[in-house]
Amino acid sequence: MARTPIIGGNWKLNLGRTPARDLLTALRASLDGIAGVEVVVCPPAPWLGDAADILRGSSIGVGAQNVYWQPQGAFTGEVSAALLAGVVDYVIVGHSERRHVFHETAEETNKKLQTVLGLGMQPFFAVGELREERESGRTNDVLKRQLLVGFTDIEPLPEGFVVAYEPVWAIGTGLTATPEIAQQTCADIRAIVAGRYGEATAEACRIQYGGSANAENAGNLMSQPDIDGLLVGGAALQAESFTAICKAAAAATV
Ligand code: 13P
Repeated sequence: MARTPIIGGNWKLNLGRTPARDLLTALRASLDGIAGVEVVVCPPAPWLGDAADILRGSSIGVGAQNVYWQPQGAFTGEVSAALLAGVVDYVIVGHSERRHVFHETAEETNKKLQTVLGLGMQPFFAVGELREERESGRTNDVLKRQLLVGFTDIEPLPEGFVVAYEPVWAIGTGLTATPEIAQQTCADIRAIVAGRYGEATAEACRIQYGGSANAENAGNLMSQPDIDGLLVGGAALQAESFTAICKAAAAATV
């Protein structure tokens, strides 16, 4: 089954308005029309409108980094999926920084996923284990809980749904998971999806790897059979490296 590879650039809390606009303009020039890979950029929330304007009519999608499940009301500082839906097509849900820095629970992640899917947007559903969880052999249990709680009441899972496997120990550390570890864990994730939704849905599910992905390791990671994309942090902040990653992904999967 052919799965369209998908590369996301998660800018996190980086880049002021002018450098953000410059990067968006440069990416439009270098990546618009790229074949064989879906490309999405996720700038900080205040620049989502700029991103949508600059990338309108291009093949590059725009995503938000977070969302709140309530549609409106007295929720100071939050941004609802309903508001985002007019601006973006993708939303990162359950990023480890949301889980560990902001203490977001798997149950909250589930509410966000339901809301995003309900409005027809594509989530990047991020899961991943801590270093001590991997070292004590608990990776599969941790991922299973994050995935199954996240999937509560989501029926069916839309075709082409995106799970982002981001081992916390590899994020921003330069310690990229080896292609073998990333492949094995993405295969384990696909098996968990198959257990929940069946083989056909699992085969259609796209699983990204994230954690110190860069222009040098992208091709090797993308050539693994269960890795269908990358969620890129630091290396998404420069047009040159993000463009090289997207091109390596397109080349690795033809
Ligand atoms: P880095 O690529 O900077 O390790 O970040 C990965 C990540 O968290 C993407 O969401």
